[in-house]
Amino acid sequence: MEMFRKTFAEINLDNLTHNIRVLQKAFPQRFLCPMVKANGYGHGDVKLALHLEKLGIENLGVCLIEEGLLLRHNGVKANILVFRGFDKKGAKAIIENNMTAVVSSWEQIEALEQVADKKVSVHVKFDTGMNRLGFRTEEAQKVFDRLNNHPKIEVKAVCTHLYIGENADEVDQTSAHQLQRLNKISEIFKSMNVFCHALNSSGILNLMQMQKDGVNDASHPLMMQKWGIRPGLMIYGYSSLGRPDVGDLKPVMTLKSVVNTFRDVKAGETVSYGARWTAKRDSVVAVVSIGYGDGYHRLLSNQSHVLFKGQKAPITGTVCMDYLMVDVTDIVQGQDLKSLNAQIDQEVILFGWDKSNHLLSADELARKAHTISYEMLTSVGERVPRVYVGGEKR
Ligand SMILES: Cc1ncc(COP(=O)(O)O)c(C=O)c1O
Repeated sequence: MEMFRKTFAEINLDNLTHNIRVLQKAFPQRFLCPMVKANGYGHGDVKLALHLEKLGIENLGVCLIEEGLLLRHNGVKANILVFRGFDKKGAKAIIENNMTAVVSSWEQIEALEQVADKKVSVHVKFDTGMNRLGFRTEEAQKVFDRLNNHPKIEVKAVCTHLYIGENADEVDQTSAHQLQRLNKISEIFKSMNVFCHALNSSGILNLMQMQKDGVNDASHPLMMQKWGIRPGLMIYGYSSLGRPDVGDLKPVMTLKSVVNTFRDVKAGETVSYGARWTAKRDSVVAVVSIGYGDGYHRLLSNQSHVLFKGQKAPITGTVCMDYLMVDVTDIVQGQDLKSLNAQIDQEVILFGWDKSNHLLSADELARKAHTISYEMLTSVGERVPRVYVGGEKR
């Protein structure tokens, strides 16, 4: 797509490669299913999936059937796990497109039974405490009895989802209880030769930290099985534990824009809607070509900063739909407005990496916007083109 406005999300495939290699090295021979739902956490699912395949990834996780179909129709050959529920029509689409249903209810078993014209492999999801999706733990025996020697359905795996993965390193917290429940379920399903998957980024990062600390304790819930892993956030370079040191992850997305214009703002004047910022001194304000219409949170009005020429420039006033303004007075010292405005396309980093490898973390912005990095990444809007760099290194 031709880009007239130079606002885009740069997706660094080498950083994605790095994050995946970290996982492959730490967990060889484990079921590994990177989550590329929600447009690859905002990074662009098709491109990412095709790149992940090149790195040897064999399984990919999506939420919606629609997301899986998009990948299939764009040449993704990997096994695609569809985590969201489905009806009869959905079951048909899953089977016809060679995807794997993650079955969460009796109705879904019935839907598969009705439409399957060959034996289909499924994973079965158990709700071990989150109270969102999945069979109840107590139903495990009944589910086994229904699916054992089933003419049309073959269970390959059982799984669950941690709801406070941050505590997975502890032996008597919610994650430990969830994993113990799944372990019991896997014993019921033993004769089917199933494997188990359960760990999201928080679970994985906790396990990595334990490995790093030399813990090797088969009685610890995180280590009682080689739990399959379903990393989402961490492959995009952020730590759901808020510990960027664990795993040495590299953020993949840099949200970039340019200065549209510089303006002189006299002391006492205000900037933007609602006059929520008043210049305390004569200032230079840069108008940046990005706003909440692009997914930059309005809650960051007067709260965060951008990187401009390697320095932090605070946001002045309310973030608009198409623009935000930043105070660059200290950064452009000595330059007059005319010469500043003559320099076109001066880069502004909203989050991610600047040219000198300074990182403005989406985590930091997320905290200021009272949200999480997941939302910062997935909020980046459709009108922001994704531009891919790197990807040659394997
Ligand atoms: C079923 C399932 N597995 C794995 C993940 C990945 O989680 P995270 O991004 O925290 O690694 C998600 C994301 O919410 C999920 O819904």
